[in-house]
Amino acid sequence: MTATAAPSPILPGATIGFLGGGQLGRMTAFAARSMGYDIQVLDPEAACATRPVASRTITATYDDVEAAISLASECNVVTLEIEQIHPDVLDAVAARCALRPGREPVYIIQDRIRQKQWLAAQGFPLGRFVAATRASDIADAVSTFGPCIAKSTHGGYDGRGQVRLREAAQGADAWDALGARACLVEQMVDIHYEISVLVARSPSGAVAVYPPSRNHHTSGVLTWAVVPAVISDAMTVRAQSLAKAVAERIGIVGLLAVECFVTTAGELLVNELAPRPHNTYHHSERGVATSQFEQLVRAICDLPLGATDVFAPSAIANLLGDVWLQDTAPNTSHALAIPGTRLHLYGKAGARAGRKMGHLSAIGTDAQDALGRVLESYRRLSPGTVASFDVHEPVLAHVTS
Ligand SMILES: Nc1ncnc2c1ncn2[C@@H]1O[C@H](COP(=O)(O)OP(=O)(O)O)[C@@H](O)[C@H]1O
Ligand SMILES: [Mg+2]
Repeated sequence: MTATAAPSPILPGATIGFLGGGQLGRMTAFAARSMGYDIQVLDPEAACATRPVASRTITATYDDVEAAISLASECNVVTLEIEQIHPDVLDAVAARCALRPGREPVYIIQDRIRQKQWLAAQGFPLGRFVAATRASDIADAVSTFGPCIAKSTHGGYDGRGQVRLREAAQGADAWDALGARACLVEQMVDIHYEISVLVARSPSGAVAVYPPSRNHHTSGVLTWAVVPAVISDAMTVRAQSLAKAVAERIGIVGLLAVECFVTTAGELLVNELAPRPHNTYHHSERGVATSQFEQLVRAICDLPLGATDVFAPSAIANLLGDVWLQDTAPNTSHALAIPGTRLHLYGKAGARAGRKMGHLSAIGTDAQDALGRVLESYRRLSPGTVASFDVHEPVLAHVTS
């Protein structure tokens, strides 16, 4: 038997490349810099959020093979913070340096229909769905399932590229609104609460699973997330083993976030997957032994994965562009006077309604306390957007199912 060489870690001093330079790339780049890595980034926007942290920024679209080759030629490993990367770009990078995660999981995840069909074929628990290839398929789905949500296959995020339907007669409008091309139609799930589970996996197959995060969305956009999730131990175990199984089956190297619904009937369903850092784990920078950003660096560089223990209950609240579009400027001093809070801004020029500009975080004595602090800090920062933010004192009732 021939001994295979142990995979060698990519050590500090090496260069990490990022496909995508938004806030996820920026925060990962900060973590990588702290550990002594150099950073290069490719993003369509010259003034992308990662630019100030990178030694080199390549301004190019995610289907520009030549630009991707240029990135790969100066990097030891390339990762990504967005899944909408053209497969030819993934192949070109993988031919020149380590691409983590690899082509296959990204290819499966980047198309919502392909992702759902893969999850179904593997036997993972899902809500009911169909792949619609014409307007009448949407109408038929609503007739069969009742209220539905139609989602574009590519490029949707933060609730964009989605249409909610109550009646079959709305099918034609939904088809047109989504660009008159194939889309995913899901039955509206009777959601009791939403959680996500982040899994890190290294090239050697080592796995670290994070404690579930409890998440709250308003109009399809994440408003807050908190850890620990305040759910039963049984549900924690179920969610973690489900997420770990998905990560292993899809062969992720790096991070996989598994978004889940827990239904009013107590079922645990997979909503969607993300092969990258995730908005619902920004609190890991405050209250978890290893932040998701450091963990991604460790995983793609084949260093030992860090501990995922929660050492402080912590919560985040997203700051959308709306906060900067009010008559009164955000009151930062008032917001940060709440003990345990921190402000994170992504350095994006140009606040637009719905655009993620930053987040507030807080640690507390328990999950409810951390959440209460971050939401109070939010109210102080931007009293004018509270109504749209949907913060009517959410209560983390202990869930026993
Ligand atoms: N089938 C569904 N039933 C009920 N709510 C849903 C369904 N699909 C999505 N949602 C709600 O919309 C949010 C965003 O949808 P998601 O599919 O995760 O898209 P995105 O890529 O924008 O995050 C979810 O977190 C959930 O709150
Ligand atoms: Mg989602």
